[in-house]
Order: sequence, then C-alpha cells, then structure tokens
Amino acid sequence: MPPLLPPQVDDYLTGLAGIGLQDVVLDEMEARAREHGFPIVGRAVGRHLELQARAIGARRVMELGSGYGYSAYWFARAVGEDGEVICTDGDAGNAALAEGYLRRAGVWDRVDYHVGDALTSFAEVDGEFDVVYCDIDKDGYPDAWAAARERIRVGGLFVCDNTLWHGRVAGVPQERSSPARDAVTPDIVAMTRAVAEDQRYLSSLVPLRDGVLVALRVEA
Ligand SMILES: C[S@@+](CC[C@H](N)C(=O)[O-])C[C@H]1O[C@@H](n2cnc3c(N)ncnc32)[C@H](O)[C@@H]1O
Repeated sequence: MPPLLPPQVDDYLTGLAGIGLQDVVLDEMEARAREHGFPIVGRAVGRHLELQARAIGARRVMELGSGYGYSAYWFARAVGEDGEVICTDGDAGNAALAEGYLRRAGVWDRVDYHVGDALTSFAEVDGEFDVVYCDIDKDGYPDAWAAARERIRVGGLFVCDNTLWHGRVAGVPQERSSPARDAVTPDIVAMTRAVAEDQRYLSSLVPLRDGVLVALRVEA
C-alpha cells in the first residue's frame, strides 16, 4: 500500500527517528519486513510508541498482535529492565522469530510471549496495564477496545495502529481496490468513534504512517 504522506516526508520522519540509534538487530527486523512484505509499524511509529510509553512511565504493556517483535522492541526499551511487555500472536513462527531477535537485542527477559488468539490471551492475563497496544486483524478492533478499556489504569494509554487505513476511514479513493480492506473499514471507524465517545479517555489520532490512535485514560 502506498504511504499516506509523500514518500519524501515518510523518509524524513524515518531518518529522524533513527538518529542516535544504531542496532543491527533492529536493522535486521526491518530488512525482514521488506523481504517478506510483513507489516511492521516502522521506525517513526516505533519511536513514537517508545516515547508515549516512556512519557507515562509505563512498566507493563499488553500488545495485541506482536508479529515477530518489532513493535515490542520499542516497548521493551521504554519499560526498562524491570518492566514487562506481554506479546500475543496467533502464529507460533512469529513467536520463535521474536525470541531470536529480542534475545539478541538484550530485551527478551522483559517479554512474555503468548501464542494464540490475542483477545483470549489478554483475558487469561490478570491485572491492569499501563499501555494496551492494538495491531491485530482489523475486524477485531471493536472487541479489542471493549476488552482493553476497563483494564488500562488511569493515566495509562490505549494505542491502536492503522486507524487511518490509508484514508479509507475518511472515504479517500484508493488506487487499487481491496474488498477485504474495505470490508473492515467500518470496524476501524466504529472502534475509533467508541474511543472518542468514551468520556474517561482523551484521544487523538496521530496521522503518522497509517494513523496511530492514542487515548489517555483520564478518569476511573
Ligand atoms: C500488523 S502485524 C503486527 C505487527 C507488529 N505490531 C509490529 O509492528 O511489529 C499483525 C499480527 O497480528 C497477528 N494477529 C492478527 N489478528 C490476530 C488475532 N486475532 N489474534 C492473534 N494474533 C493476531 C498476525 O499474525 C500478525 O502477526
């Protein structure tokens, strides 16, 4: 899918996000995404996730849809040595890859990776979270929000990727038709509206890459 922003702007943001950060493991994870067409969030969003998590002093993060650990890498940096990133994915192969990368990156001991349906795994893990991050199949977004909204501490964040869905949420005509992507657009819109309408949360949709929804829990 073409980026929403002009490619030069995307490249500029990605370049900025990489300043001061040299990690061969991160480079390899990004190379894998390019080779296999795997949809990681990329460096500009990754940095943004780390910033959001650090800004609230996050120590416990729940990731719904972790793939091979790229977004978890950024959260793992944010939570620090004593923190915890709970990863979920339906594909055991992704879990194995994540272990390889994140072990080499020195953060695997902060990660608890669950293989299976993300929302089932979420329900099986007790407690509150500083951040719940959602990046599962888009038809699951409304249920992900329903599961997350009661389990985020006051002062914590719900963060959700692909909330602009390449402009489909706003009716932007697409160069290439994709009935499958069109079919889940109402789910993304419904979830985003539900977040916006929840008075306990203050939300903002950041138009970075494919749209990152960030919602801060301000009331119990
Ligand atoms: C967009 S990718 C995640 C990318 C990851 N957040 C990153 O940026 O590195 C979505 C992942 O979620 C997994 N997934 C999608 N729906 C799921 C579900 N309902 N339960 C578990 N895993 C799911 C897919 O297997 C895939 O690896």
